[in-house]
Amino acid sequence: MSFFTALTTRTFSNSARMAAAIKNVTVIGSGLMGAGIAQVAAQTGHTVTMVDIDKAAVDKAEKRIAGSIQRVAKKKFSSDEGEATKFISEALGRLNISTDPVASVGSADLVVEAIVENIGVKQKLFKELDQAAPEHTIFASNTSSLPIGKIAEVTNRKDRFGGLHFFNPVPVMKLLEIIRIPETSNATFEAMKEWGKNMGKVSIQCKDTPGFVVNHLLVPYLFEAMAMVERGDAFKEDIDIAMKLGTGYPMGPLELSDYVGLDTLKFIGDGWMRDYPEQSMYRYPKILAKLVEEGKMGVKSGQGFYNHNKE
Ligand code: CAA
Ligand code: NAD
Repeated sequence: MSFFTALTTRTFSNSARMAAAIKNVTVIGSGLMGAGIAQVAAQTGHTVTMVDIDKAAVDKAEKRIAGSIQRVAKKKFSSDEGEATKFISEALGRLNISTDPVASVGSADLVVEAIVENIGVKQKLFKELDQAAPEHTIFASNTSSLPIGKIAEVTNRKDRFGGLHFFNPVPVMKLLEIIRIPETSNATFEAMKEWGKNMGKVSIQCKDTPGFVVNHLLVPYLFEAMAMVERGDAFKEDIDIAMKLGTGYPMGPLELSDYVGLDTLKFIGDGWMRDYPEQSMYRYPKILAKLVEEGKMGVKSGQGFYNHNKE
């Protein structure tokens, strides 16, 4: 065996060993994304702790997971009700709940953060977790738009830090963006990749650039659709129909904005406008700020561009 082969074999098996070691996963934040990530991790055999500082958010997440996992099981075991019930009870049996982030990382192999899109709040959380988590624990952020390097800089484990960006709804969307910062070690990257595969996702690799791949393209498009509504270029319903029937998107941009969360989209835009004031494509129109100010966050609050309250 050549030196190079020996080296790659060793690197691979080290990576594989590290990947196999991701068994215990702590997901911080139990909103739209955290609940979905925790659910899929539990479904795929991991022991999961889902954490939120807001007890009401955890209760809501438990309800959302109960509904979502039923849909997954129904699809997966359409002709075997017994297997479906077993799948659900085993997955839910692997899912633990907490309201204390620091106390929840003691045995984590991987921590995935999915809290509010705010750099200061994320940094504060990771600084505290860095003191509490074991040496080997990999940290990842599910941020939509914030620089991973900036979040990681408050920790002493930049080599065990990366971005793991999932898509909403997590049980359905197949993609996982894996973001490396220059310090991310190969072993960490391979472990994240292996974990993504075990989660049933197809991963792509990207650099720590604004919005990574998807949101760099998607969010300016959503902002421009909102601007069209604001200018009165077309009715929101017609814009949505146009993009669904004209380009085959499953949702139109205004429906999708409501689905993502208008508060989250505004947080993304605020961060980008602060960090890249010269980039016009990162600017959002006034209508977004107005809706958020009125408490209209989209599906999660029952009202956004559309009314989502069930009669
Ligand atoms: N949990 C489990 N299963 C679910 C689900 C959930 N939350 N939501 C939908 N499904 C399943 C359904 O059970 C259904 O399965 P079958 O086909 O076997 O019946 C399937 O998904 C389709 O669902 P529906 O029939 O209810 O509805 P639909 O066909 O309209 O699809 C959708 C719903 C999958 C959400 C689809 O509209 C879609 O793909 N929308 C676009 C979503 C998108 O673009 N997401 C990315 C947002 S950007 C982002 O996430 C990044 C960021 O940082 C902001
Ligand atoms: P969300 O508003 O639904 O949930 C955020 C949750 O974080 C809330 O329940 C809140 O109580 C909790 N939280 C806030 N601060 C906390 C803290 N310090 N410790 C523990 N919990 C805390 O938001 P979301 O849509 O799930 O987004 C979460 C993250 O994922 C954001 O960074 C967002 O940009 C990103 N993201 C969102 C989407 C999307 O489509 N909504 C997609 C991919 C990534």
